[in-house]
Amino acid sequence: MLHNKILENYFKKLIVLIRNKHTNLLINTLILREQHYILVTKSMVFLRSVITNLVGKDLITTQEWTVEELRATLEVARELKRMYYYLGPSRMPDYLKKKVFIMLFYAPSTRTRSAFETAMELLGGHAQYVEARMTRMGEGEALKDIAKMYEIFGDAVGIRILDKAIDYKYGEGHKVIREFAKHANVPVINMADDQEHPTQALGDIMTMEEKLGNVRGKKFVIMWGYAPVIRGYSSIHADMLIATRFGMDVVVAHPPGFELPEKYVEWAKQNTKESGGSIEFVNDYRRALEGAHAVFPRSWCSRKLAELGASKFGEEELRIYQKYRDWRLKMEDLDLMDKHGIITHVLPVLRGYEADDEVMDSPRSVIYEQAENNMFAKAAVLLLTMGGLV
Ligand code: CP
Repeated sequence: MLHNKILENYFKKLIVLIRNKHTNLLINTLILREQHYILVTKSMVFLRSVITNLVGKDLITTQEWTVEELRATLEVARELKRMYYYLGPSRMPDYLKKKVFIMLFYAPSTRTRSAFETAMELLGGHAQYVEARMTRMGEGEALKDIAKMYEIFGDAVGIRILDKAIDYKYGEGHKVIREFAKHANVPVINMADDQEHPTQALGDIMTMEEKLGNVRGKKFVIMWGYAPVIRGYSSIHADMLIATRFGMDVVVAHPPGFELPEKYVEWAKQNTKESGGSIEFVNDYRRALEGAHAVFPRSWCSRKLAELGASKFGEEELRIYQKYRDWRLKMEDLDLMDKHGIITHVLPVLRGYEADDEVMDSPRSVIYEQAENNMFAKAAVLLLTMGGLV
């Protein structure tokens, strides 16, 4: 009898315990669901407001977009990439049906033109290629008039103007894009000028996030590389700005005399204050590579060249480069990096100069994935600025 009583009590207690546990579990689950619902609802409402704000916006520098706008763009780019592989290109939604993106090229391109054209095609729109030299500009037609015409014919305009097209003179390309944007009442997208390449930056950070996970606190080395040709600052600035914006520890390694323009250095420093990242400039690329999670080896011009132009200073500039022929990313240099560190490049890479063939073809090189991500990043910029998602 006593034995039964003890057992009965024991079972009663057990049942209460189980009920409480279940109740608690149920309550916790409901709270979690509720929190999840609130979180998802809030973040979707926020995302929609960010996306709505991007309609009609120019992209001339990533500095003029908020971090939330840049993140939303990357989210859309990733979603487009998922759709592309899940649905296949022919079943991608035609968000930009009947929309036209006019691409005005003053300078050549292997990737950018092609990536933008494919992006427009995938989204159901059309990309129109215009070579500046084949327009009436050479006969003195005002940029303002062209901007007003293209605003009628297109829904957004992309412009590329850098390097030989402006005799490498710093600021000349950027000025043209700013002037165009002042008059055109449609989004103006910088497809690379002498100072910036914002859509490239988006594709590059997308790739680093894809390969490295959260990039905050990861070391990214932008390394000057020897080349027998002159190139401006476009992608260097673009990657330095976005990486510091996303909290990376950026190290820019270059020989003396290849310092970057002050405005961009200041911007990068400001970005690190806001993002918690860091920026450092060094003259020893091997020291810079120690523990690096990503490297980008590329040549850029001296400040003197950018000031005087290649027609005046080009020969002297190339002579200066000769002193730094050893600034080339080699296989042995990769041992200095984090063992999972990746090799990036916006391309074109000057193989055998900026970096060895084996480096660019090594399993750690992500250059082709980077080019692919650049296409999706460009698609996202077009989709958002032309209002295909609202
Ligand atoms: N990365 C890049 O802009 O390549 P292109 O100059 O070939 O367009």
